[in-house]
Amino acid sequence: MVSITPLPQSSSRGVDVVDSPRLRSRSTSTVIPPREIAFGNLLASGANGEVFKATFNGRSVAVKKFHSISPHEFCNEVKILQLLQHANIITFLGNMTEPFRCIVTELMEMGDLQAYIRKSRLPFASLLSIAIQIAEGMSYVHRTGLIHRDLKCGNVMLTSSGIEGALVAKVMDFGDACEMSNVMSRRHIGTARWTAPEMFQGKSYNEKVDVYAFGVLLWELLSNGAVPFSEYIFDSQVEDAVLRGERPTIPPECKCPLGMRSLIESCWNQIPSLRPTFLDIVPILRDFQSREVDTE
Ligand SMILES: Nc1ncnc2c1ncn2[C@@H]1O[C@H](COP(=O)(O)OP(=O)(O)OP(=O)(O)O)[C@@H](O)[C@H]1O
Ligand SMILES: [Mg+2]
Repeated sequence: MVSITPLPQSSSRGVDVVDSPRLRSRSTSTVIPPREIAFGNLLASGANGEVFKATFNGRSVAVKKFHSISPHEFCNEVKILQLLQHANIITFLGNMTEPFRCIVTELMEMGDLQAYIRKSRLPFASLLSIAIQIAEGMSYVHRTGLIHRDLKCGNVMLTSSGIEGALVAKVMDFGDACEMSNVMSRRHIGTARWTAPEMFQGKSYNEKVDVYAFGVLLWELLSNGAVPFSEYIFDSQVEDAVLRGERPTIPPECKCPLGMRSLIESCWNQIPSLRPTFLDIVPILRDFQSREVDTE
């Protein structure tokens, strides 16, 4: 049984861990006994743990085994995953606490979006479809009252389970997520190259930090998965650049609809209130799709 103890308190990953009535009220146990999971190959190593292919209930799944995560952080991530059910959000299947803390999700056999677009040059129509799906997923996350705080192509997974094998994109990695009503300012939650200026400044912030990150994610899509701000080595250099108002350069040669560049620029606007919401972004992207607007 997962439980959340009274907080707030700091955590080893720098995540705001809060005693949230909303998350606390979710008391459904999703604990899977270790004997029900058959571990297979290592799929990837992330900053916070290793991800294995495994079998559970006769289906292939992914199991993320954490290196070091406090019980509070683990409970926070599990509770958030329990809340979320959407076609463009990773499906949570359960968690293990013994002999180590693990999160079990559906297996996304095509891997993460960053790796995928680095190796496969997708046509703009496919990139647009992926962008719409991510925006739909994030719109749902925000409607649910949550902020992701680590949105980037590396935290979007792909499967080919769509109609006629079409790519389906799902947002994952809610390890840095929090409730909008319980944001506490800290520096450097998430990944620096996708971090909004107000978060670097330690100011109060809101869900618009995810919209900023989505602007950088759109830039990644148009740049074949390049690293944003690759001219800077250190996070502190990225921070200084972002606070000066610098942004990654949108490739001049990229074939994208007129209007896509201005959408990206509005998403990463220095002033959070001038950024659109995901409710605004979805129809803008759909409009590009339906009108097959002129490309530059
Ligand atoms: N459900 C899944 N299906 C297939 N592969 C997965 C799945 N979940 C995670 N992975 C693989 O494991 C990698 C790391 O996962 P995750 O982002 O959850 O870990 P992390 O420790 O937060 O890493 P990072 O700091 O790089 O984001 C992913 O980039 C992906 O390649
Ligand atoms: Mg991740």
